[in-house]
Amino acid sequence: MTFPKLTIGDLVARIPIIQGGMGIGVSLSGLASAVANQGGVGVIATAGLGVLCPDKETDYVEGSIKVLREEIRKAKEATKGILGVNIMVALTNFADMVETSIAEGVDLILAGAGLPLDLPKYLKKGIETKLVPIISSAKAARIICKRWLARYNKLPDAFVVEGPMAGGHLGFRSEQLDDPGYALEKIIPEVVEAVSVFERENGVKIPVIAAGGIYTGADIFEFLKLGAAGVQMGTRFVATHECDANIKFKKAYIDAKKDDLVIIESPVGLPGRAIRNDFIESIQGGLKKPFKCLYHCIIPCNCSDSLYCIAMALSNAVKGKLKGGFAFAGKNAYRVNRILSVRELMESLEKEFDRALDGLRDESFRSAVR
Ligand SMILES: Cc1cc2nc3c(=O)[nH]c(=O)nc-3n(C[C@H](O)[C@H](O)[C@H](O)COP(=O)(O)O)c2cc1C
Repeated sequence: MTFPKLTIGDLVARIPIIQGGMGIGVSLSGLASAVANQGGVGVIATAGLGVLCPDKETDYVEGSIKVLREEIRKAKEATKGILGVNIMVALTNFADMVETSIAEGVDLILAGAGLPLDLPKYLKKGIETKLVPIISSAKAARIICKRWLARYNKLPDAFVVEGPMAGGHLGFRSEQLDDPGYALEKIIPEVVEAVSVFERENGVKIPVIAAGGIYTGADIFEFLKLGAAGVQMGTRFVATHECDANIKFKKAYIDAKKDDLVIIESPVGLPGRAIRNDFIESIQGGLKKPFKCLYHCIIPCNCSDSLYCIAMALSNAVKGKLKGGFAFAGKNAYRVNRILSVRELMESLEKEFDRALDGLRDESFRSAVR
Protein backbone atom coordinates (compact mmCIF):
# COMPACT_ATOMS: atom_id res chain seq x y z
CA MET A 1 0.00 0.00 0.00
CA THR A 2 1.78 3.08 -1.21
CA PHE A 3 -0.87 5.77 -1.28
CA PRO A 4 0.55 8.72 0.60
CA LYS A 5 -1.59 10.16 3.38
CA LEU A 6 -3.46 13.43 2.94
CA THR A 7 -2.90 15.84 5.81
CA ILE A 8 -5.16 18.86 6.26
CA GLY A 9 -4.18 20.60 9.50
CA ASP A 10 -4.57 17.95 12.20
CA LEU A 11 -6.74 15.71 10.00
CA VAL A 12 -4.91 12.79 8.44
CA ALA A 13 -6.67 10.72 5.77
CA ARG A 14 -5.01 7.36 5.08
CA ILE A 15 -5.96 7.66 1.42
CA PRO A 16 -5.41 10.96 -0.44
CA ILE A 17 -8.91 10.96 -1.92
CA ILE A 18 -11.77 13.32 -1.15
CA GLN A 19 -15.14 12.19 -2.48
CA GLY A 20 -16.62 15.20 -4.27
CA GLY A 21 -19.83 16.57 -2.76
CA MET A 22 -22.69 15.82 -5.18
CA GLY A 23 -26.12 17.38 -4.93
CA ILE A 24 -29.04 16.96 -4.95
CA GLY A 25 -28.91 13.86 -2.82
CA VAL A 26 -26.19 11.98 -4.76
CA SER A 27 -23.77 12.17 -1.83
CA LEU A 28 -25.51 11.92 1.50
CA SER A 29 -24.54 9.97 4.63
CA GLY A 30 -24.48 6.59 2.81
CA LEU A 31 -21.72 7.43 0.35
CA ALA A 32 -19.86 9.83 2.64
CA SER A 33 -19.58 7.32 5.50
CA ALA A 34 -18.53 4.50 3.14
CA VAL A 35 -15.70 6.63 1.75
CA ALA A 36 -14.63 7.77 5.23
CA ASN A 37 -14.63 4.12 6.40
CA GLN A 38 -12.16 3.26 3.64
CA GLY A 39 -9.76 5.99 4.78
CA GLY A 40 -10.75 8.74 2.34
CA VAL A 41 -12.70 11.93 3.08
CA GLY A 42 -16.47 11.45 2.73
CA VAL A 43 -18.54 14.49 1.78
CA ILE A 44 -22.25 15.26 2.13
CA ALA A 45 -23.53 17.80 -0.42
CA THR A 46 -25.95 20.46 0.80
CA ALA A 47 -27.32 21.76 -2.52
CA GLY A 48 -31.10 21.40 -2.63
CA LEU A 49 -31.42 19.38 0.58
CA GLY A 50 -34.77 21.04 1.37
CA VAL A 51 -36.46 19.15 -1.48
CA LEU A 52 -35.49 15.87 0.20
CA CYS A 53 -37.26 16.67 3.47
CA PRO A 54 -39.94 13.99 3.93
CA ASP A 55 -42.00 16.24 6.21
CA LYS A 56 -44.10 18.24 3.74
CA GLU A 57 -45.23 20.67 6.48
CA THR A 58 -41.67 21.93 6.83
CA ASP A 59 -40.62 24.71 4.46
CA TYR A 60 -37.50 24.52 2.28
CA VAL A 61 -35.30 26.56 4.62
CA GLU A 62 -36.11 24.57 7.75
CA GLY A 63 -36.22 21.33 5.74
CA SER A 64 -32.66 21.90 4.49
CA ILE A 65 -31.35 22.38 8.03
CA LYS A 66 -33.23 19.34 9.27
CA VAL A 67 -32.04 17.03 6.48
CA LEU A 68 -28.43 18.22 6.81
CA ARG A 69 -28.45 17.71 10.58
CA GLU A 70 -29.86 14.20 10.19
CA GLU A 71 -27.44 13.24 7.43
CA ILE A 72 -24.40 14.42 9.42
CA ARG A 73 -25.62 12.50 12.48
CA LYS A 74 -26.27 9.34 10.44
CA ALA A 75 -22.83 9.57 8.83
CA LYS A 76 -21.14 10.05 12.20
CA GLU A 77 -22.89 6.99 13.54
CA ALA A 78 -21.66 4.97 10.58
CA THR A 79 -18.00 6.02 10.63
CA LYS A 80 -15.18 7.31 12.77
CA GLY A 81 -13.46 8.54 9.59
CA ILE A 82 -13.19 12.06 8.20
CA LEU A 83 -16.41 13.76 7.14
CA GLY A 84 -16.88 16.96 5.20
CA VAL A 85 -19.78 18.99 3.89
CA ASN A 86 -19.93 20.64 0.46
CA ILE A 87 -21.66 24.02 0.44
CA MET A 88 -22.08 26.06 -2.74
CA VAL A 89 -21.38 29.73 -2.03
CA ALA A 90 -24.22 30.61 -4.42
CA LEU A 91 -26.85 28.91 -2.22
CA THR A 92 -29.32 31.35 -0.74
CA ASN A 93 -29.18 29.31 2.48
CA PHE A 94 -25.36 29.21 2.54
CA ALA A 95 -25.18 30.65 6.08
CA ASP A 96 -27.69 28.08 7.43
CA MET A 97 -25.72 25.22 5.90
CA VAL A 98 -22.40 26.49 7.28
CA GLU A 99 -23.80 27.11 10.76
CA THR A 100 -25.49 23.70 10.89
CA SER A 101 -22.33 21.92 9.71
CA ILE A 102 -20.20 23.66 12.33
CA ALA A 103 -22.75 23.04 15.08
CA GLU A 104 -22.79 19.32 14.16
CA GLY A 105 -18.99 19.21 14.31
CA VAL A 106 -18.06 18.24 10.75
CA ASP A 107 -14.34 17.93 10.12
CA LEU A 108 -14.27 20.18 7.10
CA ILE A 109 -16.36 22.46 4.92
CA LEU A 110 -15.65 22.60 1.18
CA ALA A 111 -17.13 25.66 -0.49
CA GLY A 112 -17.18 26.49 -4.19
CA ALA A 113 -19.45 27.84 -6.95
CA GLY A 114 -18.38 31.35 -5.97
CA LEU A 115 -15.52 32.60 -3.82
CA PRO A 116 -16.13 31.89 -0.11
CA LEU A 117 -14.65 35.26 0.89
CA ASP A 118 -16.39 35.47 4.26
CA LEU A 119 -16.40 31.82 5.27
CA PRO A 120 -14.04 32.25 8.29
CA LYS A 121 -16.51 34.60 9.96
CA TYR A 122 -18.60 31.56 10.96
CA LEU A 123 -15.78 29.96 12.95
CA LYS A 124 -16.05 30.63 16.67
CA LYS A 125 -13.13 30.28 19.07
CA GLY A 126 -12.16 26.67 19.67
CA ILE A 127 -13.95 25.34 16.55
CA GLU A 128 -11.67 23.03 14.63
CA THR A 129 -13.68 22.68 11.40
CA LYS A 130 -11.29 23.05 8.46
CA LEU A 131 -12.22 25.45 5.67
CA VAL A 132 -11.46 24.41 2.10
CA PRO A 133 -12.39 26.67 -0.82
CA ILE A 134 -13.01 25.05 -4.21
CA ILE A 135 -11.47 27.19 -6.95
CA SER A 136 -10.53 26.99 -10.61
CA SER A 137 -7.52 29.36 -10.88
CA ALA A 138 -4.39 30.61 -9.14
CA LYS A 139 -5.93 34.08 -9.20
CA ALA A 140 -8.84 32.89 -7.05
CA ALA A 141 -6.38 31.28 -4.60
CA ARG A 142 -4.50 34.59 -4.21
CA ILE A 143 -7.71 36.62 -3.75
CA ILE A 144 -8.99 34.29 -1.03
CA CYS A 145 -5.65 34.09 0.81
CA LYS A 146 -5.24 37.87 0.84
CA ARG A 147 -8.81 38.55 1.92
CA TRP A 148 -8.81 35.90 4.70
CA LEU A 149 -5.45 37.12 6.01
CA ALA A 150 -6.55 40.78 6.02
CA ARG A 151 -9.96 40.19 7.56
CA TYR A 152 -9.57 37.09 9.68
CA ASN A 153 -5.83 36.55 10.07
CA LYS A 154 -6.38 33.05 8.72
CA LEU A 155 -5.54 31.08 5.60
CA PRO A 156 -7.50 28.24 3.99
CA ASP A 157 -6.69 24.80 5.41
CA ALA A 158 -6.49 23.45 1.84
CA PHE A 159 -7.72 24.27 -1.66
CA VAL A 160 -9.60 21.99 -4.03
CA VAL A 161 -8.81 22.99 -7.62
CA GLU A 162 -11.55 21.87 -9.97
CA GLY A 163 -10.66 21.72 -13.65
CA PRO A 164 -12.85 21.73 -16.77
CA MET A 165 -13.41 17.95 -16.97
CA ALA A 166 -15.49 17.82 -13.77
CA GLY A 167 -19.18 17.03 -13.55
CA GLY A 168 -21.91 19.40 -12.43
CA HIS A 169 -21.63 23.18 -12.57
CA LEU A 170 -18.24 24.34 -13.80
CA GLY A 171 -16.22 27.42 -12.88
CA PHE A 172 -15.27 28.20 -16.48
CA ARG A 173 -16.88 29.82 -19.50
CA SER A 174 -18.01 27.29 -22.12
CA GLU A 175 -15.29 28.34 -24.58
CA GLN A 176 -12.58 27.72 -21.96
CA LEU A 177 -13.56 24.10 -21.37
CA ASP A 178 -11.50 22.61 -24.22
CA ASP A 179 -8.78 25.27 -24.16
CA PRO A 180 -5.47 23.64 -23.05
CA GLY A 181 -4.66 26.89 -21.23
CA TYR A 182 -7.30 25.92 -18.64
CA ALA A 183 -6.46 22.22 -18.36
CA LEU A 184 -6.18 20.90 -14.81
CA GLU A 185 -2.57 19.81 -15.51
CA LYS A 186 -1.79 23.45 -16.22
CA ILE A 187 -3.74 25.01 -13.33
CA ILE A 188 -2.44 22.72 -10.55
CA PRO A 189 1.22 23.84 -10.74
CA GLU A 190 0.06 27.47 -10.99
CA VAL A 191 -2.04 27.14 -7.81
CA VAL A 192 0.74 25.23 -6.00
CA GLU A 193 3.13 28.06 -6.88
CA ALA A 194 0.67 30.82 -5.83
CA VAL A 195 -0.12 29.10 -2.53
CA SER A 196 3.56 28.40 -1.72
CA VAL A 197 4.15 32.15 -1.32
CA PHE A 198 1.52 32.29 1.47
CA GLU A 199 2.85 29.06 3.01
CA ARG A 200 6.39 30.45 3.22
CA GLU A 201 5.36 33.84 4.56
CA ASN A 202 3.04 32.40 7.19
CA GLY A 203 4.78 29.15 8.11
CA VAL A 204 1.76 26.96 7.31
CA LYS A 205 0.93 24.11 4.93
CA ILE A 206 -1.93 24.56 2.48
CA PRO A 207 -2.42 21.31 0.55
CA VAL A 208 -3.72 21.64 -2.99
CA ILE A 209 -6.19 18.96 -4.11
CA ALA A 210 -6.84 18.27 -7.79
CA ALA A 211 -10.35 17.56 -9.13
CA GLY A 212 -12.06 17.00 -12.45
CA GLY A 213 -11.61 14.02 -14.78
CA ILE A 214 -9.42 12.00 -12.41
CA TYR A 215 -10.38 8.42 -13.14
CA THR A 216 -7.60 5.92 -12.38
CA GLY A 217 -4.89 5.43 -9.79
CA ALA A 218 -2.40 6.38 -12.52
CA ASP A 219 -4.22 9.74 -12.86
CA ILE A 220 -3.88 10.25 -9.10
CA PHE A 221 -0.17 9.52 -9.42
CA GLU A 222 0.20 12.10 -12.22
CA PHE A 223 -1.47 14.85 -10.19
CA LEU A 224 0.59 14.11 -7.10
CA LYS A 225 3.69 14.42 -9.30
CA LEU A 226 2.46 17.87 -10.34
CA GLY A 227 2.43 18.98 -6.71
CA ALA A 228 -1.10 18.10 -5.57
CA ALA A 229 -1.39 16.58 -2.09
CA GLY A 230 -4.50 14.62 -3.00
CA VAL A 231 -7.43 14.41 -5.39
CA GLN A 232 -11.18 14.93 -5.27
CA MET A 233 -13.25 12.51 -7.33
CA GLY A 234 -16.96 12.61 -8.07
CA THR A 235 -17.89 10.51 -11.11
CA ARG A 236 -16.18 7.31 -9.91
CA PHE A 237 -18.14 7.40 -6.66
CA VAL A 238 -21.50 7.67 -8.43
CA ALA A 239 -21.04 4.15 -9.80
CA THR A 240 -20.77 2.57 -6.36
CA HIS A 241 -23.35 0.54 -4.45
CA GLU A 242 -23.12 3.00 -1.57
CA CYS A 243 -23.84 6.12 -3.66
CA ASP A 244 -27.14 7.58 -2.43
CA ALA A 245 -28.67 8.03 -5.92
CA ASN A 246 -31.28 5.69 -7.42
CA ILE A 247 -29.95 2.75 -9.47
CA LYS A 248 -31.39 4.31 -12.67
CA PHE A 249 -29.13 7.33 -12.14
CA LYS A 250 -26.10 5.02 -11.84
CA LYS A 251 -27.23 3.04 -14.91
CA ALA A 252 -27.31 6.30 -16.91
CA TYR A 253 -23.55 6.45 -16.28
CA ILE A 254 -23.04 2.86 -17.41
CA ASP A 255 -25.06 3.42 -20.59
CA ALA A 256 -23.44 6.78 -21.47
CA LYS A 257 -21.26 6.99 -24.59
CA LYS A 258 -18.45 9.50 -24.97
CA ASP A 259 -20.51 11.97 -27.01
CA ASP A 260 -23.46 11.75 -24.59
CA LEU A 261 -21.49 13.94 -22.17
CA VAL A 262 -22.64 17.40 -23.06
CA ILE A 263 -22.44 20.94 -21.74
CA ILE A 264 -25.69 22.61 -20.77
CA GLU A 265 -26.19 26.27 -19.95
CA SER A 266 -27.72 26.06 -16.49
CA PRO A 267 -30.35 28.59 -15.33
CA VAL A 268 -27.87 29.58 -12.61
CA GLY A 269 -25.65 31.15 -15.27
CA LEU A 270 -22.89 28.55 -15.32
CA PRO A 271 -22.12 25.79 -17.78
CA GLY A 272 -22.72 22.30 -16.43
CA ARG A 273 -21.71 18.84 -17.67
CA ALA A 274 -24.45 16.23 -17.89
CA ILE A 275 -25.50 13.08 -19.73
CA ARG A 276 -27.60 13.89 -22.77
CA ASN A 277 -31.15 12.53 -22.70
CA ASP A 278 -34.62 13.44 -23.99
CA PHE A 279 -35.08 16.09 -21.29
CA ILE A 280 -31.85 17.86 -22.30
CA GLU A 281 -32.70 17.61 -25.99
CA SER A 282 -36.12 19.14 -25.45
CA ILE A 283 -34.84 22.11 -23.43
CA GLN A 284 -32.07 22.63 -25.95
CA GLY A 285 -34.81 22.68 -28.56
CA GLY A 286 -36.48 25.50 -26.59
CA LEU A 287 -39.32 23.51 -25.01
CA LYS A 288 -40.46 24.89 -21.65
CA LYS A 289 -40.91 22.46 -18.74
CA PRO A 290 -43.55 24.16 -16.60
CA PHE A 291 -42.58 24.58 -12.94
CA LYS A 292 -43.29 26.62 -9.87
CA CYS A 293 -40.22 27.92 -8.05
CA LEU A 294 -40.70 26.65 -4.47
CA TYR A 295 -37.75 28.51 -3.11
CA HIS A 296 -35.15 30.63 -4.90
CA CYS A 297 -32.38 28.18 -3.88
CA ILE A 298 -29.43 29.54 -5.88
CA ILE A 299 -28.77 33.29 -5.82
CA PRO A 300 -27.98 33.85 -9.54
CA CYS A 301 -30.78 31.52 -10.76
CA ASN A 302 -32.82 33.27 -13.40
CA CYS A 303 -35.94 31.27 -12.59
CA SER A 304 -38.48 33.62 -14.17
CA ASP A 305 -36.92 33.28 -17.66
CA SER A 306 -35.74 29.72 -17.32
CA LEU A 307 -37.25 26.86 -19.34
CA TYR A 308 -36.99 24.52 -16.35
CA CYS A 309 -36.07 24.34 -12.67
CA ILE A 310 -32.55 22.96 -12.26
CA ALA A 311 -33.21 21.79 -8.69
CA MET A 312 -36.26 19.79 -9.79
CA ALA A 313 -34.47 18.38 -12.87
CA LEU A 314 -31.53 17.18 -10.77
CA SER A 315 -33.60 15.82 -7.91
CA ASN A 316 -35.93 13.95 -10.30
CA ALA A 317 -32.88 12.32 -11.90
CA VAL A 318 -31.37 11.33 -8.55
CA LYS A 319 -34.70 9.67 -7.66
CA GLY A 320 -34.50 7.71 -10.93
CA LYS A 321 -37.11 9.82 -12.77
CA LEU A 322 -34.87 10.63 -15.71
CA LYS A 323 -37.78 11.64 -17.93
CA GLY A 324 -38.21 14.67 -15.65
CA GLY A 325 -34.53 15.64 -15.45
CA PHE A 326 -30.95 14.69 -16.17
CA ALA A 327 -27.80 13.40 -14.49
CA PHE A 328 -24.81 15.62 -13.97
CA ALA A 329 -21.60 13.69 -14.72
CA GLY A 330 -17.88 14.24 -15.31
CA LYS A 331 -16.31 14.07 -18.77
CA ASN A 332 -15.02 10.56 -18.10
CA ALA A 333 -18.39 9.12 -17.06
CA TYR A 334 -18.60 7.16 -20.34
CA ARG A 335 -15.73 4.99 -19.02
CA VAL A 336 -17.90 3.64 -16.20
CA ASN A 337 -18.99 0.09 -17.07
CA ARG A 338 -20.04 -1.41 -13.78
CA ILE A 339 -21.05 -0.63 -10.23
CA LEU A 340 -18.49 -1.44 -7.54
CA SER A 341 -18.39 -1.14 -3.80
CA VAL A 342 -16.45 1.83 -2.45
CA ARG A 343 -13.97 -0.66 -1.04
CA GLU A 344 -13.40 -2.32 -4.45
CA LEU A 345 -13.01 1.09 -6.06
CA MET A 346 -10.42 2.24 -3.51
CA GLU A 347 -8.50 -1.04 -3.84
CA SER A 348 -8.39 -0.82 -7.63
CA LEU A 349 -7.26 2.82 -7.49
CA GLU A 350 -4.50 1.90 -5.08
CA LYS A 351 -3.31 -0.98 -7.30
CA GLU A 352 -3.20 1.31 -10.32
CA PHE A 353 -1.34 3.91 -8.28
CA ASP A 354 1.19 1.27 -7.20
CA ARG A 355 1.71 0.16 -10.81
CA ALA A 356 2.33 3.77 -11.90
CA LEU A 357 4.80 4.19 -9.05
CA ASP A 358 6.60 0.96 -9.99
CA GLY A 359 6.76 2.17 -13.58
CA LEU A 360 8.45 5.36 -12.42
CA ARG A 361 10.91 3.38 -10.26
CA ASP A 362 11.76 1.14 -13.23
CA GLU A 363 12.18 4.20 -15.40
CA SER A 364 14.53 5.95 -12.96
CA PHE A 365 16.43 2.67 -12.48
CA ARG A 366 16.81 2.33 -16.25
CA SER A 367 18.01 5.92 -16.63
CA ALA A 368 20.43 5.48 -13.69
CA VAL A 369 22.10 2.44 -15.33
CA ARG A 370 21.93 3.78 -18.88
C1 LIG B 1 -23.71 14.31 -10.04
C2 LIG B 1 -22.76 15.39 -9.62
C3 LIG B 1 -23.21 16.38 -8.74
C4 LIG B 1 -22.31 17.36 -8.30
N1 LIG B 1 -22.74 18.28 -7.38
C5 LIG B 1 -21.86 19.17 -6.85
C6 LIG B 1 -22.27 20.05 -5.80
O1 LIG B 1 -23.41 20.02 -5.33
N2 LIG B 1 -21.35 20.94 -5.32
C7 LIG B 1 -20.05 20.99 -5.82
O2 LIG B 1 -19.25 21.81 -5.35
N3 LIG B 1 -19.65 20.15 -6.81
C8 LIG B 1 -20.50 19.23 -7.30
N4 LIG B 1 -20.08 18.33 -8.25
C9 LIG B 1 -18.62 18.26 -8.59
C10 LIG B 1 -17.92 17.14 -7.77
O3 LIG B 1 -17.93 17.44 -6.40
C11 LIG B 1 -16.45 16.90 -8.18
O4 LIG B 1 -15.60 17.94 -7.82
C12 LIG B 1 -16.27 16.68 -9.65
O5 LIG B 1 -17.29 15.90 -10.16
C13 LIG B 1 -14.92 16.03 -9.90
O6 LIG B 1 -14.79 15.59 -11.21
P1 LIG B 1 -15.05 14.06 -11.62
O7 LIG B 1 -16.50 13.85 -11.53
O8 LIG B 1 -14.54 13.99 -13.02
O9 LIG B 1 -14.28 13.19 -10.67
C14 LIG B 1 -20.96 17.38 -8.76
C15 LIG B 1 -20.54 16.39 -9.67
C16 LIG B 1 -21.41 15.41 -10.09
C17 LIG B 1 -20.91 14.36 -11.04
